[in-house]
Amino acid sequence: TIWQYQFRIILLGDSTVGKSSLLKRFTDGTFSELQDPTVGVDFYARVLEVEPGCRIKLQLWDTAGQERFRSITRSYYRNSVGGLLMFDVTNRKSFESIQEWLREVNNHVYPNKTVFVLVGHKSDLTDDRKVSREEAEKLAEALDLNYIETSAKNNTNVDQAFVKLTECIYDS
Ligand code: GTP
Ligand code: MG
Repeated sequence: TIWQYQFRIILLGDSTVGKSSLLKRFTDGTFSELQDPTVGVDFYARVLEVEPGCRIKLQLWDTAGQERFRSITRSYYRNSVGGLLMFDVTNRKSFESIQEWLREVNNHVYPNKTVFVLVGHKSDLTDDRKVSREEAEKLAEALDLNYIETSAKNNTNVDQAFVKLTECIYDS
């Protein structure tokens, strides 16, 4: 496929929030309940047609959320123009980690020009929800980020999350 632009995108967030699952859904349309934890960094790609004739190649860097891989994942912060900052709506700790993830990036990249979108993932698990949409929107506003809720399982807002991020990169 012919494309006009190429954006490098990074996915960040605690282990098990669903970064790899979101990327698998977005790039090959599949979902697995038994997704393995990422080791270091994985690479995905997809061409997104944002408007007729305007195609953007997204190079997607899937980082491991587990602390022991941090020295590897850190080396990818600097070269990404955009990122999804993800938490799991059923996991409060992952929501509380969001500001730490921003600090982590800011501590290693200066000046940090990465454009982030905040993603509340696993929105299909309505009965187990521990973070309300209102609370997440409030944090997004405080951090000056856009917010979107996604489900890789139900394929809810998956393409939309990447379209939104692409628009934010465009506007920046
Ligand atoms: P690390 O690679 O360790 O950082 O984890 P990760 O953020 O990549 O999470 P991963 O995609 O491996 O998903 C963790 C678990 O959550 C897996 O069992 C997935 O099947 C499950 N999961 C991912 N997305 C969803 C979702 O949208 N809904 C539900 N119900 N489960 C999901
Ligand atoms: Mg993973």
